[in-house]
Amino acid sequence: MSSATALAHPNIALIKYWGKRDEDGNLPAVGSLSVTLDALRTRTTVSFDSSLDRDELILNGAVAATEQPRLERCLNALRELARRRDYARVESENDFPTGAGLASSASGYAALTVAGAAALGLDLRDPQLESVARIGSGSAPRSLHGGFVLLENTPSGTRCRALLAPADWPLQVVVAVTSEAGKSTSSRDGMVDSQRTSPYYQPWVDSHPADLAQGQRLVAARDFAGLAALAEHNCLKMHAVMLTTRPPLMYWLPVTLACMQVISGLRRDGVPVFFTIDAGPQVKAVCLPEATATVAEALQQVPGVLRLLTGGLGTGARIIDSNG
Ligand code: DP6
Repeated sequence: MSSATALAHPNIALIKYWGKRDEDGNLPAVGSLSVTLDALRTRTTVSFDSSLDRDELILNGAVAATEQPRLERCLNALRELARRRDYARVESENDFPTGAGLASSASGYAALTVAGAAALGLDLRDPQLESVARIGSGSAPRSLHGGFVLLENTPSGTRCRALLAPADWPLQVVVAVTSEAGKSTSSRDGMVDSQRTSPYYQPWVDSHPADLAQGQRLVAARDFAGLAALAEHNCLKMHAVMLTTRPPLMYWLPVTLACMQVISGLRRDGVPVFFTIDAGPQVKAVCLPEATATVAEALQQVPGVLRLLTGGLGTGARIIDSNG
C-alpha cells in the first residue's frame, strides 16, 4: 500500500470564473484571479491499495456518493500518469462548512491531487497535475498555489501561476458565515444553466478579459482601492448572470445583502475593505490588516451572522505525510 496526506486551503476569486468552454474537460470559459486563504483547511489522505475493488471516498466521516464520479475521474488521470492500476481509499476532512460557497471543492481536489500524486511517486512540479485538479473542480488548480493566483486559459487547457506570495501583500479575509447548509444548486450545474439561459452570460464573457487584465495590474501595484472597486463589480456582474438564469440562481440570503451594505458603508467611511460572494450566502470581506478588527466587529453585529472565520493569505497545497 502507498499513501500520502496533504493539506490544502480554499481560495476565493476576486475576478471570478463562471461558465465552461468545454464541459467534458471542465475547461473554464474565462480566466480568474484568486487569493488562497490560510484560515480554512482540508486534510486528505489517499491510499492506493491492491486489495480494493473500487475507489472509496469518506468525506467528513461519511461516504460521499455524489462526489464519486469526479473522484474516479481524478484518480484515473493520476493512475494514467503513473501507469498504475490500484484503486484508492480517500479520506478527507474540512474544518469549515462543506458545499456552502466556501470553496470546499477547490481545497478538496487540490489536496486529493497532491496527496494522490505523492502516493504514486509522481513529480509534484508536473504541470499536468493542474489538469488533474481541474477535472475535480475548475477552481481547484488555484489552491495548488499560495497568495495571489492567476488562472489563464491556454489554447488546449489552463495555466496557473502565483502573482504575489502571501507576504508580498498580506491582506486579511473575514468570512461571515450566514448558513451552514449546503447549496441547492451546485456551481457545476448552475454554470451550465447560466450559459444556456442568461441573456447576460455572453456580455459577462465578453467583458471578462478586461477585468482580468486590470486585476493583474492592480495586484502588481498593490492598489487596494482600485482592486476593491473592480472585485465588487466583477462579483456583482457574476451574480447578475446567476440571478437572470432560468430557473434563477439566488444564492443570497437577506443577511448576505445586509453584510454587503455594512461593508459598503465601512468603505465609504474610509475603512479599506471590500466584499466578494460566491455560489452561496457567505460573505467574504477582504481588507488591509489594520482594518481587520473594525471589519470583524461590524460584521459580528449583523443579525443572522452565525460566526466569523478570520485569517490571512495561505500557501499552496502541500504534503504533510507520505510513504509513496
Ligand atoms: C462562484 O470551481 O466550484 O466560486 O469547476 O464546476 O467544480 P466546477 O465549479 P467551481 O466554481 C467556482 C465558482 C465560483 C467563482 C470562482 O471561484 O472563480
